[in-house]
Amino acid sequence: MKLKMINQEATGFGLRSQVGGGANIAPLPAITMIRETDSIVGQNIVGRGNDAFNIVETLLNLSIRVVSVIPITGLGGLGKTTLAQLVYNDPKVHRHFDKKIWICVSQNFEVRLLFKLVLESLTKKKVEMESRDVIVQEVRKELEGKRYFLVLDDVWNERFELWDDFFFFFGWNQHYKGKLDSFDNS
Ligand SMILES: Nc1ncnc2c1ncn2[C@@H]1O[C@H](COP(=O)(O)OP(=O)(O)O)[C@@H](O)[C@H]1O
Ligand SMILES: [Mg+2]
Repeated sequence: MKLKMINQEATGFGLRSQVGGGANIAPLPAITMIRETDSIVGQNIVGRGNDAFNIVETLLNLSIRVVSVIPITGLGGLGKTTLAQLVYNDPKVHRHFDKKIWICVSQNFEVRLLFKLVLESLTKKKVEMESRDVIVQEVRKELEGKRYFLVLDDVWNERFELWDDFFFFFGWNQHYKGKLDSFDNS
């Protein structure tokens, strides 16, 4: 009797039973879209002044010819994104780098998509191009001779071959004046 009532209530809420399970259920949006972060600092952030200061100082003193990576790691909810946001928005960081790029990586990613996000962030325009080669050529144009700061937020994926593939591009810039700093936020 109770089950019947629950069933009726469920119907009232618009819930329907599905035969055949998953196949009929619309796929969830890509996980990146659900949890995408941005570079805007939240309100009422407390107690991270020192941590942010230390990272900023490190960033400002890094060798210009080296691709440097600063990882921020820890459990979810610990404040990694928040710390990265504080650093990203620090006026000294803003002045020091010619270009700043924030991309949210999340669980599923393709290297080509990362380059696309980098290019979108640099040009502030939707990137229609699909070819990886065309995209990276554009990224190269944007970054050539520039000192840049790249935040990779929400890195979960540990497939090193993908990261090697991604960072290889930035290694190219070492011979010029470019510079990469990133947060591995896993
Ligand atoms: N220093 C802080 N002061 C106040 N709130 C904070 C601080 N650090 C993080 N938070 C809040 O805690 C939540 C989780 O922080 P977040 O930076 O997203 O963690 P993570 O990236 O490690 O998962 C957010 O709502 C954020 O605003
Ligand atoms: Mg985070």
